[in-house]
Amino acid sequence: MASESGKLWGGRFVGAVDPIMEKFNASIAYDRQLWEVDVQGSKAYSRGLQKAGLLTKAEMDKILHGLDKVAEEWAQGTFKLNPNDEDIHTANERRLKELIGETAGKLHTGRSRNDQVVTDLRLWMRQNCSTLSALLRELIRTMVDRAEAERDILFPGYTHLQRAQPIRWSHWILSHAVALTRDSERLLEVQKRINVLPLGSGAIAGNPLGVDRELLRTELKFGAITLNSMDATSERDFVAEFLFWASLCMTHLSRMAEDLILYGTKEFSFVQLSDAYSTGSSLMPQKKNPDSLELIRSKAGRVFGRCAGLLMTLKGLPSTYNKDLQEDKEAVFEVSDTMGAVLQVATGVISTLQIHRENMVQALSPDMLATDLAYYLVRKGMPFRQAHEASGKAVFMAETKGVALNQLSLQELQTISHLFSGDVSQVWDYGHSVEQYSALGGTARSSVDWQISQVRALLRAQQA
Ligand code: ARG
Repeated sequence: MASESGKLWGGRFVGAVDPIMEKFNASIAYDRQLWEVDVQGSKAYSRGLQKAGLLTKAEMDKILHGLDKVAEEWAQGTFKLNPNDEDIHTANERRLKELIGETAGKLHTGRSRNDQVVTDLRLWMRQNCSTLSALLRELIRTMVDRAEAERDILFPGYTHLQRAQPIRWSHWILSHAVALTRDSERLLEVQKRINVLPLGSGAIAGNPLGVDRELLRTELKFGAITLNSMDATSERDFVAEFLFWASLCMTHLSRMAEDLILYGTKEFSFVQLSDAYSTGSSLMPQKKNPDSLELIRSKAGRVFGRCAGLLMTLKGLPSTYNKDLQEDKEAVFEVSDTMGAVLQVATGVISTLQIHRENMVQALSPDMLATDLAYYLVRKGMPFRQAHEASGKAVFMAETKGVALNQLSLQELQTISHLFSGDVSQVWDYGHSVEQYSALGGTARSSVDWQISQVRALLRAQQA
C-alpha cells in the first residue's frame, strides 16, 4: 500500500500535504455512508480477480473474509477512522490491510477509485431509490384512498386564484396524485439508468487484466454494463437525472403544500392541519402554523439548488474523471434524505388532514355557474360564443341589480335570450353542475371513479 505518508497514492510524493488541503480534499465525512456498498463492490471485484487468475482461491477467501470483518466493524460502530483516511475507499482498504496483511494490496489490482466510487454510488442510489419509490407510492395511495372516501364533497375550483367552477374535493386531490404518479414512473426510469455497472473501467482506459465484467455485473446484480470506460468513470447523468426527478417531484409537492396552506387559513377554512404537523407561535397564543407544509415548500428550493449546482459542476469538465466529481455525493445524500423526510411528512399531513365540508360547499356561489348557464343555452342550440355573451350579460345584470346570479327571474333572463325557460332552475344546482363533466378526466363522479381506478392500476403496475 502506501509510502511513509500512509497514503494509497503516497509513492511519488515527497513533500507533506498542507493540513488544510488534507481536510479540503477529504470526503470521508460524508462518503462513509457508502461503507456497505464499498465492501459489496470490493467483494465482487475480488471474485473477478480470482477468475482472472490474479488471486488464488485462498487469497480471495482471505480478502472476502477480511472484507466481511470490515463490514462488521462498520455495522457495529467499532470501525475506527484514522486521520489519513481520505475517503471510504482508502479507509476500507487500510483497515483490510491491518486485518489480513499484504494480501489486501492485491484487491485494487486494475481497479481505480474512479470506477470504484461510481460503482459504489450507483449501488447506493439503486437501494435508496427503491426506498423513495415505496414512500412515494405510499403517499399516492394515501391520497387516492382519501379521494375515494370523500368523493361527494364539492368545493370551489380556482384559476388565477379566483373562484372558477365547482369541483369535487377528490378531483383536487387526484390532480396532485396524478402528477405524483408521473414522478413515480419517472423514478423507475431513472433507476434503470442507475442500474448499470461501471466497475472494470479502471481509471480511464479500461481493465488490462482480463477481469470478466459480466461476472461483476451478475455478482452485483446490475442490469447492464457501461459501454465506454472514459464515459463510465466521468459521467454523472444518473445523478443529474435523480436530482431533476427530485426537483420536479418537489415542485409538485410544493404546489400542493401551497394550496393546503391557503385552504387552511381562516379566510378559506376548508381544511385543518392536524396538531401532529403544526406548531404554535412563541408569541401569539392563538396561532397554529402549517410548518410542515411550509417546510415542504422550502425544501423544494434546496433540492433545485442541488440540481442546478451539480449541472454547474459538470458543465465545464474536461474528460474524464476530475476531483470536481467528488461533490456529487453530498448532493445525492442530502437530496435523498430530504425526499425521504418530505414524502413521509406529506403522507402524514394528508392522512390526518381534517376537512370542513360545510365551509367548502358554502364557498360555492351561483356566479361560478355562469359557464353552466352558457352551456344551458348551448344545449338549446345557441352557438357557444353567443351563449357566453348571453351568460355574461346575465352576470352583469345580476351585478347591477345587486342580486346573486340565480336570483334573476325567468322574465329578466328572457330579456337576454328567448331560449331561457323554466328548466333553467336546474342550472343552479352544484351537484348537477359537476355531474355534467363526465368526459374522462372531468370532475363528475364517474370520471373521478375512473381516475381512482386508473391511478390504482398504475401503482400496481409500478410495484410489480
Ligand atoms: N473520493 C473520490 C470521489 O469521491 C474517489 C475518487 C478519487 N479518484 C481520484 N482519481 N482521486 O470522487
